[in-house]
Amino acid sequence: MTATRNVTEDIVWLGGDDRSASIFEGMFPIPQGVSYNSYLIMDEKTILMDTVDASVESRFWDNLTGTLDGRTLDYLYIGHMEPDHGACLRRVIETYPCATVVASERALDMLYNFYGIRPEKTIAVKEGDTLCTGRHTLRFIAAVMVHWPEVMFAYDEYDGTLYSEDGFGTFGALGGRLFADECDFDAEYLDEARRYYANIVGKYGSNVQTVLQKASGLDIKRICPLHGPAWRKDLGHIIEKYDAWSSYRPEEKGVVIAYSSMYGNTEEAADLLAMKLRERGLKNLSVYNVTRTHPSYVVSDAFRYTNIVFASPTYNNAIHPTMTSVIEDMANMCVQGRRFSLIANGSWAPRAHKLMEDEIKARMKDMELVGEPFVIKSSMGPEQEKDLDALADAIMASL
Ligand code: FEO
Repeated sequence: MTATRNVTEDIVWLGGDDRSASIFEGMFPIPQGVSYNSYLIMDEKTILMDTVDASVESRFWDNLTGTLDGRTLDYLYIGHMEPDHGACLRRVIETYPCATVVASERALDMLYNFYGIRPEKTIAVKEGDTLCTGRHTLRFIAAVMVHWPEVMFAYDEYDGTLYSEDGFGTFGALGGRLFADECDFDAEYLDEARRYYANIVGKYGSNVQTVLQKASGLDIKRICPLHGPAWRKDLGHIIEKYDAWSSYRPEEKGVVIAYSSMYGNTEEAADLLAMKLRERGLKNLSVYNVTRTHPSYVVSDAFRYTNIVFASPTYNNAIHPTMTSVIEDMANMCVQGRRFSLIANGSWAPRAHKLMEDEIKARMKDMELVGEPFVIKSSMGPEQEKDLDALADAIMASL
């Protein structure tokens, strides 16, 4: 039994949804699941564009063999060697030994390193090379470090399809949708698309910018990523998001408050600041307890908004470890050019604000401190409310 959908008359989506796994890459929660997309071009020669994760292998295999329906596979294209797309490579290569494996030189090396496979027939492609399968001609576009070094996009000169590997991908199962225009993308996927981008590709903004520049010269009619829906309408919407994210430009004015709290007192100050910001008319505001919320959500909103508030107790004369982890993740993903404010607590020697400021300024570019750090000793006293008001005013004025 096959469960496929047609992208066009002769391009078939062969992927599958995984709603069973709770985490991706061993760390990112995926409460809405994830899809693994593979595409088969049924031309005079057949070409399979990547495979899928082991979790959906059975579905993929039925889809591949059912769609080929007795035809052989002539080419296997490997655009990215990460195992969430390569788990079925061995099976495909062993089942279709006459298929020519098309990939970058580096991907062919990785194919051996991961799976011990050196296929008999290979074509090592590089930027600008083409492969004709009949009607379709694929032109290859190096996408180095988007987000692995071997990545190669493929652009079909026949029908304007861009096979973008992880680029333009998102967390979230498809649930029968194939195209982004078959749902309200912003309501159903945008937050997860941003979280996927910020945490998996976010470090490599300049590499993404390079690929966007190359893509701007192409007549792209549709985008087929390896995760989440494909795009055939309003391509500018997702391309604009990628342009903003990869240039570390906030999407909109807003504030993310990230706090850690041991006994609820730092949390109380963070909550009170949130209320004061709401009272002043701020709509774009998220508040996360970083002890409980996975850092990927905080990093994602740091990509989205202009302002970040870090609130932490002083712990063993240092920043609370959960907040250290969030700052570390933001720095690793190159969050930059944001305004930030600080709340610190400490029962005998509060200094988390100084340590956070030093860490943020040392590790992230162009970070501007807004307002006076709000410092409490054990718990906030009523006489301090005016200082929190002043901080809220300063944040609002900075938006
Ligand atoms: Fe979806 Fe980088 O693998």
